[in-house]
Amino acid sequence: MNSSITSIVTRIHTPVSALHAHTESLKAQSMSDLLSDDAGSTSGIRRANSLAFTFGNLHIDLSKQRLTTNTMALLKEWAESCGLANKRQALFAGKKVNTTEKRAALHMAARWPETETPPVGMEEAVACCQQQRERMAEMVNRVHAGKWYGATGQWVTDIVHIGVGGSDLGPRLVSEALADRPSSEKVAVHYVSTMDGSQLLPLMERLNPATTLLVLASKSFTTADTQLNVKTALAWLSHALEVDKATVCRHQLIGVSTKPDKMTAFGIPESHQLVFKEWIGGRFSLWSPIGISVAMQLGFDAFEELLAGAHAMDKHFLEAPIEENLPTLMALVGAWNCQFLNISSHAVLPYDGRLKSLPAYLQQLEMESNGKSVGLDGRSVTHTTCPILWGDVGPNAQHAFYQLLHQGKHTVSADLVAVAGRHVSTSENVDRSLKAQEQLTLANCLAQSQLLALGDDAIPIALRGHMAQGYRGNQPNSVLLFKSLDPAAMGTLLALYEHKVFVQSVLWNLNPFDQPGVELGKCLATSLYQTLAGEPLAQQNVEDCGTNQLLNKVMEWRNKPQHKGCSL
Ligand code: F6P
Repeated sequence: MNSSITSIVTRIHTPVSALHAHTESLKAQSMSDLLSDDAGSTSGIRRANSLAFTFGNLHIDLSKQRLTTNTMALLKEWAESCGLANKRQALFAGKKVNTTEKRAALHMAARWPETETPPVGMEEAVACCQQQRERMAEMVNRVHAGKWYGATGQWVTDIVHIGVGGSDLGPRLVSEALADRPSSEKVAVHYVSTMDGSQLLPLMERLNPATTLLVLASKSFTTADTQLNVKTALAWLSHALEVDKATVCRHQLIGVSTKPDKMTAFGIPESHQLVFKEWIGGRFSLWSPIGISVAMQLGFDAFEELLAGAHAMDKHFLEAPIEENLPTLMALVGAWNCQFLNISSHAVLPYDGRLKSLPAYLQQLEMESNGKSVGLDGRSVTHTTCPILWGDVGPNAQHAFYQLLHQGKHTVSADLVAVAGRHVSTSENVDRSLKAQEQLTLANCLAQSQLLALGDDAIPIALRGHMAQGYRGNQPNSVLLFKSLDPAAMGTLLALYEHKVFVQSVLWNLNPFDQPGVELGKCLATSLYQTLAGEPLAQQNVEDCGTNQLLNKVMEWRNKPQHKGCSL
């Protein structure tokens, strides 16, 4: 066969071109067509059952995605053509899958149980993580025993966890999600991440300085946000306790980082340092000592339940065949939506206020991992990659942006995450009312998922002609339903998404473990900070008139000399 015909045949028969061709066949089918049983057929029921999956206390419904069993078959071929099995094996074997930083990505090692033989290549990492966990447990148990004393001899009652990005979002999310879990521990945990001091100020006003323990969580130990938050917090404690900063550091500061030398230079005693390794990425570091504040809040046993839930998902991801592999299915559906259905907006809609930080957590996990346009081969990719993730607590969002989702011009995919049972033991009347609220929340989640999918076809027959139409429908969405929200469920949920992100990076030929795109912004901010502070410039930024006129407005309001540079 000559080369031109070969290239045509090759072009037509790649899994990607087959998937593009397949989108044409779906255009005529609405979600209603796919989800209903017309004329006695059981196609709708078969579909719903074939696209529903249960893993422990987690049930995932993919039936309201715009795809068919043929689509799933083509997606599976695509995953196999990308060498997913080998890439997954390399990940778990500690290969340098983070190609630009020449590192492994072994966050799974941080939750691999001592009682289970790790995959070949992960052994050393697992042993290292176990040692870290032992040090974490010692510190947690000392605080819980009331034996961690502050600079003035009072024992610790409050933890202020200071970190940002992966050093904040995972621990914060889990702490919030499990805040109502009955705990015998009497330690309150507070999270501070925002560089502007707005989260620190109210804490400095209401916490007792003598019984507050700071956690400085920073993988690099160089992030300015965190460094300045800790500097302010230390100044507060030093002033309030009338001791010097070094004394505060010795008694009321735990450091969590990959940089022990920097922690020591900062004044953190080695005994108050928790060190983890570079092969745990920031957004994958909840399972490492970065998660210590979760253990402080919930107890170390609960933290280990969290790890166990994530480990269960690791094993599932490693062992389940593609057609039942939940992270892989979620990844394929997501890639189908954004790369083949051209849906670039994805909403994360938790139907449980305890998961209010899930959108923010997934924004970093997904967009900092796959928000890229250069492939592993160093060349620009020609296909789309990660969609724009956003979202809010679903019940509140129904009073905010659902109008756009239902009658706007944008196609939006969505993950709705709900909890079927919230066991709260209170007085009978309160409990009855809470149960009603639980029912209302669940009902709204299911209703909105149906309406997003069916649009006008969801209008009850009796109301047709009496209710305004214009519900667009065909908004693809998945429902993730938990039987209850406990540490293991949280571990399973977050590991599910971690592996989903990894699979998508394989599909898109990306390195999900670096974040080169966040460096320049920090560099430019350093110079602008020095300009605003009247300090000498380490390096001269590129001058633009827009930025300069803003700088000069600030200088004017501060009665400072105008900044030189572009004319106003
Ligand atoms: O946003 C860039 C980033 O490096 C994230 O990847 C990371 O989670 C965050 O900053 C905080 O970094 P560190 O833990 O080193 O302070």
